[in-house]
Amino acid sequence: MAKARTHELPACYATTMPGLEDVAGEEIEERLGGEVKKTGPGFVVFRVPEIDASLLRLRTTEDVFLLAWGSDQLTYRAEDLDRIQRWTAQDADWNRLLQLHHAVRPKPKGKPTYHLVAQMTGEHGYRRADAGKAFARGLAGKFPASWKPVEEDAAVEFWLTIHGQRAVCGLRLSDKTMRHRTYKLEHLPASLRPTLAAAMVRLADAQPGQIVLDPMCGAGTILAEQLEAGRGKVRTWGGDLDRAALRAAGVNLRRLGQAQLARWDATRLPLADASVERIVSNPPFGKQLSSPEEIGPLYRQMLREYQRVLKPNGRAVLLVGEPAVLRDAAHQVGWQKHRELRVRVLGQPAAVTVWTRPGGSS
Ligand SMILES: C[S@@+](CC[C@H](N)C(=O)[O-])C[C@H]1O[C@@H](n2cnc3c(N)ncnc32)[C@H](O)[C@@H]1O
Repeated sequence: MAKARTHELPACYATTMPGLEDVAGEEIEERLGGEVKKTGPGFVVFRVPEIDASLLRLRTTEDVFLLAWGSDQLTYRAEDLDRIQRWTAQDADWNRLLQLHHAVRPKPKGKPTYHLVAQMTGEHGYRRADAGKAFARGLAGKFPASWKPVEEDAAVEFWLTIHGQRAVCGLRLSDKTMRHRTYKLEHLPASLRPTLAAAMVRLADAQPGQIVLDPMCGAGTILAEQLEAGRGKVRTWGGDLDRAALRAAGVNLRRLGQAQLARWDATRLPLADASVERIVSNPPFGKQLSSPEEIGPLYRQMLREYQRVLKPNGRAVLLVGEPAVLRDAAHQVGWQKHRELRVRVLGQPAAVTVWTRPGGSS
C-alpha cells in the first residue's frame, strides 16, 4: 500500500452488483478513459485522468468512491484494528481527498455534516463496531471538529468496507440516485436493478438508428437504460402482456424520451420478420410462474419468435434464472453464445447471456 502522493490523483473505487465487475470496468475504461487496477467480488479499483462529475454518470456501478487506502492482507485477528487505525491516520491524504470530494460534490450551505460507515462481511475475531471505532480513531483530527455527525444525507461520507481479508476505505462521491436513478417512479416486484439493466444495454451495444426491443418490458427498466444510453439515437420498443406493467413503464419512461410501447404476447409479436437489431430482456424466472416446468415451453416459443423478428447477425441479451433451459432453446434456433455473466437477482442465481442470431449480412 502506497501513501497517496499529492501531485497525482488518487485512485477511485466503485462497487457493483457481484458479477458485473468486468462490465463496469469496461464502462470505466470506455467512458472515462480510466484504467482498471484491480477487481474483486463487487468492486473495481481504477484510476481516471480527471476526477470530476463524469464519475457520477457511470451506469453500471452502485457507488463510486475516492480511495483513501486499500489492503487485501487483513488477518481476521484483532491486530487488524491497529492497522485500520494506522492506515487511516497515516496512509491517506485526507485534505486532498476532501478537496477533490468538494470539487465533485460542492459543500451544501450551513454547517458541514459527515457520516462514518463501517461495513464488514466474513468471520473476523472482532466486531464491525470495533472496526468502526478503529476507523474513527484513525480519522481523528482529519477534518474540522465543528463538522456535525448525522445519520442521513451527510455532506461527506467516510467509508470502510471489509470483506474477508480485503478492506477498502474512502470518501463516497455518489449518492443513492446513482443506483436507484430518478426515473424509477413506479416499481413492480420483479423489476430489475437499474445497474443490471444498464449492464445488459451495454452488452447489447446498439448503434444509432438501430431498433432495440424488450418484448417483456415490465416496468421498463431496460428501455429506460437504453433511452439514457442511446440519447435519442437508438429506437426503443417494448411491450408486455400485463396492462399494469405497461402503465408503470409508461410512467417511468415519460421523461426520458420516445419509447414505443404495446400490449402483446411476446411469443406472437405483431412485428415483421427481421425487423429489429437487438433484443434485450428478462423473461419471468421459474419461481415467478406457477410451475418451473412452464419455463421450458415459454423459452422455446419465445426464442422461435425472437429468431423470427431479429435481423441476421442481430444480438440478444437475455437475463434468465435457468440458463441451461435457455441454452437448449437457443441451440434449437441455432444462436451462438458470446458471453455469460453470473449474477444474483432477488436472491436467486441468474445469468446474463449474450447471443447472436447468425446468418447473412445485416
Ligand atoms: C421479470 S419481469 C420483467 C421486469 C422488467 N425487466 C423490469 O425491470 O421491470 C417479466 C415480465 O414478463 C411479462 N410477461 C410474461 N410472459 C409474457 C408474454 N408471454 N408476453 C409478454 N410479456 C410477458 C410479465 O408480465 C412481466 O412484466
